[in-house]
Amino acid sequence: MRYGYFDDEQHEYIISQPDTPLPWINYMGCEEYFGIISNTAGGYSFYKDARLRRLTRYRYNNAPLDSGGRYIYLRDDEVSPPQFWSPTWQPTRTGLDEYGCRHGMGYTIIQSTHTDIRAKVRYFIPLGENLEIWELLLSNQREEPANLSIFTMVEFCLWDAMDDATNFQRNYSVGEVEVVDEIIYHKTEYRERRDHFAYLACSEKLAGFDTDREAFLGAYRGADTPAAVERGSLSNSLTHGWQPIGAQHVRVHLNAGEQRTIIFLLGYHENPADEKFDPPDTQTINKRAVLPTIYKYQNPSEVEAAFEKLQAYWQGLLDTLQVHTPDIHTNRMVNTWNVYQLMATFNFSRSASYFESGIGRGMGFRDSNQDLLGFMHLMPERARNRILDLASTQLPTGGAYHQYQPLTKRGNNEVGSGFNDDPLWLVLSVAAYIQETGDWSVLDEAVPYDNLPGSEDSLYGHLQRSMQYTLDRLGPHGLPLIGRADWNDCLNLNCFSDTPGQSFQTTTNKDGKVAESVFIAGLFIKAAMDMVQIARRRDGEQAAEVFTQASKQMEKAVWDAGWDGAWFRRAYDDFGEPVGSQECLEGQIFIEPQGMCIMAGLGIKDGRARQALDSVAEKLATPHGIMLHQPGYTRYYLHLGEISSYPPGYKENGSVFCHTNPWIMIAEAMLGNGSAAHDYYLRINPSKREEISEVHRCEPYVYAQMIAGREAPTYGEAKNSWLTGTAAWNYLAITQWILGIRPEFDGLRLDPCIPTEWEGFSVERSFRGCRLHIDVLNPQHVSRGVMRVEVDGIGIEGNLVKLDKQGGEYQVLVWMGK
Ligand code: BGC
Ligand code: NOJ
Repeated sequence: MRYGYFDDEQHEYIISQPDTPLPWINYMGCEEYFGIISNTAGGYSFYKDARLRRLTRYRYNNAPLDSGGRYIYLRDDEVSPPQFWSPTWQPTRTGLDEYGCRHGMGYTIIQSTHTDIRAKVRYFIPLGENLEIWELLLSNQREEPANLSIFTMVEFCLWDAMDDATNFQRNYSVGEVEVVDEIIYHKTEYRERRDHFAYLACSEKLAGFDTDREAFLGAYRGADTPAAVERGSLSNSLTHGWQPIGAQHVRVHLNAGEQRTIIFLLGYHENPADEKFDPPDTQTINKRAVLPTIYKYQNPSEVEAAFEKLQAYWQGLLDTLQVHTPDIHTNRMVNTWNVYQLMATFNFSRSASYFESGIGRGMGFRDSNQDLLGFMHLMPERARNRILDLASTQLPTGGAYHQYQPLTKRGNNEVGSGFNDDPLWLVLSVAAYIQETGDWSVLDEAVPYDNLPGSEDSLYGHLQRSMQYTLDRLGPHGLPLIGRADWNDCLNLNCFSDTPGQSFQTTTNKDGKVAESVFIAGLFIKAAMDMVQIARRRDGEQAAEVFTQASKQMEKAVWDAGWDGAWFRRAYDDFGEPVGSQECLEGQIFIEPQGMCIMAGLGIKDGRARQALDSVAEKLATPHGIMLHQPGYTRYYLHLGEISSYPPGYKENGSVFCHTNPWIMIAEAMLGNGSAAHDYYLRINPSKREEISEVHRCEPYVYAQMIAGREAPTYGEAKNSWLTGTAAWNYLAITQWILGIRPEFDGLRLDPCIPTEWEGFSVERSFRGCRLHIDVLNPQHVSRGVMRVEVDGIGIEGNLVKLDKQGGEYQVLVWMGK
């Protein structure tokens, strides 16, 4: 069953009923001001950091309730008893005669009709501005005039979202607002140490306003039945403490067939510390700098121009890489939605979604490094800066803070530390950046450790320390010690937590000298492949040899202790017993080491990689994707940690943890099995799964972190949509390994591995300042193998196209075959 449909031309998903199984959201903003918006106008806004600079409130534990949002009410002022409704369905949930929500690239349009009054609300954030626009187009489709009232309402958050949700003894006394010339300013704490405020403005004359929540709602009422809307008037309340809101009232008279555009603006502004007040010796906000912006966007033609600019911006980004394959789900995800999701993961890491509260996690170190892998070609400059930000939080030991807060860019241990895989992901992201851009100078950037001035080292020095961090921490089998955990945050082999509620991520951990990770071994070898090439170019063969040797040593350790006979083992626990082995009662085979070790090239020549992938197909693959491990843990194991805290089939305990699936796609592609790679790709492809939306339940246009595994009672149900490494890795798997258009240090490799039935496909891609039009022909219906490559009609040797910084457009023809 579907709840909407794709409009591929417009790059939109159109939701055709408001009560989707879960709120289906979109993101607005791509620079500093951001908003999350659901298909019924739920969500919240923030500046840079969802925890530390939250503009509007949202209620927790809220799916699918979805309360808190950018609310609009329409009221028919002529009927009695009074009739009012929300054109976005929430919060009144009044039946609508027509409803549609279009989630597009950086904007959401919700359109509905009720008693022949048509409303279309367009929500978006103009580029370069710290404000959001709600543009309401009202049309009277009745045969007689209509007298209507429009009310809006947002609930302001007192900036620090965590404190706002918990510290009422203080917060109920600090709220402050100012209303001047019909603009509502929220200025809590502006009187003391904050230099910033929020505002709500409108293009029309107001009939009234409210800033006190109780005055607007009435005591004990919710946003679905505000007393003020029922009554038809606001009371111009000025809140003192309690709950500051912004509510506006506009009256409109519309003749039969008439329509009107009304603009509402919600924004954020920061003043220089010494220019906060105007006049300076008062407590009144200085509005000189912000008013011109407000006036500008009260004008519909400016709003239209800003919208067009946003669309052009996104078109430009999407154009960077466009594909035309025989499969619509591939085209749709690669050309629009997967890229779009990459922007969200780049901007928010795992911090703010409908499953991430915005107060729990900041920018993950391993997460952001992986998110970058798919992002390089879109905005290389921003990718570069992100790499430098991440590296600046690296510790002098080579280890990493697990996360940093976006506002401060300082690493912290709030979601744990000592994850021994963390530093290696930096090598992968830096290598991918150079491969995309050819910009080797990044390696010479001076970057501090732990943001400490004076500790600067070259970025290359950071990479060396990342590698050394692993080598300094090897266990009894010569495999890397796992520390608190590796990629699988829940494989806590040194934790031994027996206290309810204790965080597996932050509780005191054993400084384990026994528990080892085969996964980190694979990741190390993969990182070493990049380091060999980087070192060779920088410092010559001898420098490269160091990494070749380290990698060989690690490979030996994997074959000696990490191979289980038909697949790679996962780890060794604190007692030196294998995890992910036939010997185990539960958790006999795990997906992660199969993917990572094969991506690192292990077993490809001698058939063991094939054997491992056959084991994956037999034991882990389901129609809903590939499960993390099998069998799932049916009880809690003290020595395994959080992984066994989940019921079987959920999250890290054997769900289809989508992030890992593309590793297997890539591995299959490396072995030349394009049909299997693409088949796995389709199993978790959101667009493909759209037809089972009642099972999948999350948005059909973006990847979710997990799909409940075979052992779960809700098998096939997705959770934790949007912010997941799945976005980057799937993008890599399909574009670089299945379609095989892969940046390497010396150029663009063309090495497709596709389903044999495909006749071919074509790709347009920007690469190092050049624009390539690539046509791939597959007349012999092979899965992999390139016979001939022509660039502008001239055959080249091999399948690596070198066009370093030449600029210009190129026609590339690729003949696959034997
Ligand atoms: C989740 C993991 C997550 C970790 C750290 C765990 O509860 O299951 O997916 O990585 O918390 O935030
Ligand atoms: C989600 C976390 O954000 C990510 O860092 C981790 O690798 C996966 N969960 C698996 O535990």
